[in-house]
Amino acid sequence: MSPEHQHPGHAQETGSFGEAFLAHALTPQNLGALPNPEGFARPQRDCGDYIELYLRIQDEVISDARFLTEGCVQVVACGSALTCLIKGRPVSQALQVDAELIQAELGGLPPQHRHCAELAERTLKEALRDYWSRRRSPWRAVYPRR
Ligand code: FES
Repeated sequence: MSPEHQHPGHAQETGSFGEAFLAHALTPQNLGALPNPEGFARPQRDCGDYIELYLRIQDEVISDARFLTEGCVQVVACGSALTCLIKGRPVSQALQVDAELIQAELGGLPPQHRHCAELAERTLKEALRDYWSRRRSPWRAVYPRR
């Protein structure tokens, strides 16, 4: 079966990389940091990989999302896919973005790298929790934490 006839979700299970995955992995979108973000998180997996997520949120809409990471190529692709999926979306819609959706955006991940998408989901949820907690405690905007 030629690569273009494979089901996208199976692209990486066969060891090949699909077009969507390669686009996010080789030219990641939204790389970088944001000064004084409204939401921030940097959880780390036991494999040692982490994603730093910076959210700019205005009127309950994620107007900008940037990420930095250190880890495997799959986690780079997941950070890129995650930021593309949430940028310009209301917070209520961004909450629906989970590991499954991130994998779908990438055309699938091999089983041993599914936890990379779970890390991206966890990073988003923690950054949104950080946003809500800053709103409850506005003085934290004056003393931002990294
Ligand atoms: Fe652990 Fe990718 S190998 S996040």
